[in-house]
Amino acid sequence: MSLYAIGDLHLHFQSVLKAPGQLHGRVWKHHEEKFRTNCGKMLTEQDTLVLVSDHSWGKNLAECEQDLQYICDLPGRKILTRGNHDMFWDAKKTAQLNELYQPRLTFLQDSYETYQDYALVGTKGFTFEGPFYLDGRRRIIGWDEEAEQHAKKLVERELVRLRRSFELAKAGGYRRYILFLHYPPTNILEERSGFTDLAEEYGAEQVIYAHCHGESRFYDSIHGEYRGRTYRLVSGDFLKWKPLRILD
Ligand SMILES: [Fe+2]
Ligand SMILES: [Fe+2]
Repeated sequence: MSLYAIGDLHLHFQSVLKAPGQLHGRVWKHHEEKFRTNCGKMLTEQDTLVLVSDHSWGKNLAECEQDLQYICDLPGRKILTRGNHDMFWDAKKTAQLNELYQPRLTFLQDSYETYQDYALVGTKGFTFEGPFYLDGRRRIIGWDEEAEQHAKKLVERELVRLRRSFELAKAGGYRRYILFLHYPPTNILEERSGFTDLAEEYGAEQVIYAHCHGESRFYDSIHGEYRGRTYRLVSGDFLKWKPLRILD
C-alpha cells in the first residue's frame, strides 16, 4: 500500500486545447496512454493517488466527463486537488462534485483526507509569476507591480483556506501532514513564502506541488530538503508520466 502523486495531466478527450503551445514536445505525445500504462504497472487497488490539479482543459463539467472517467478508471483510490485550469470545479460547489463522483473520486478542498496516520491537506495555492523585466544578460531588473499586488490578494485567500484545512485536520486528531499545492510554494524571487511558513508552523513533512511544466520551469521553486521539510515537484512531464511515491 503506497501513496503516490502526480499533477498537470491536462487531459482533453472532449475539449480543444486553448494553449497547445504549453503542451508541446515528445513528452506530451499520447501522454494519457503513457500515464495509464505506467499506473497499470505501478499501482494496485490498495494504493492512493493524489492528482495535483490541472486535470482537464474542459471549461465545464460536461466537457470534462471523459477526462474524469479516464481518472476514475485508473487503479486505486483517487484524490483530486484544484488547479488554475480546472474550470469545471467551483470551490464553493465541491460538495456537489463529491456527491456526483463518490466513491470513485474524492475532490479535496477546504478539508482533509487521511492516509494511515497522516492528514492530506491541499489547496490551489498561488504565487506571483510576473511578468518580470530582464536586462540583456537575462537578469531580473523589475516586474509588474500591479500584477504583484493582485497576486498578494490571491495568496492571502489561499493561505486562509490552507490554515482552515490544517485546523480541521488538527481538530480531527491528526499530527502528521502532507501538504499538496498546485502552484509552487515560492516563485523565482522568493526563498520562502506564506506557504512554506504554514508548512513549517504545522510541521508538514512533505510539500508536493505541480504547475511548473516545460523544462524551463522545472526549477522555479524548491526541490528536496528545505528548513526541515521535503519539497517535491510532481508535474507529469517532469516525472515522465510515472506517479511519484510519496509514502509507503
Ligand atoms: Fe498545468
Ligand atoms: Fe497550473
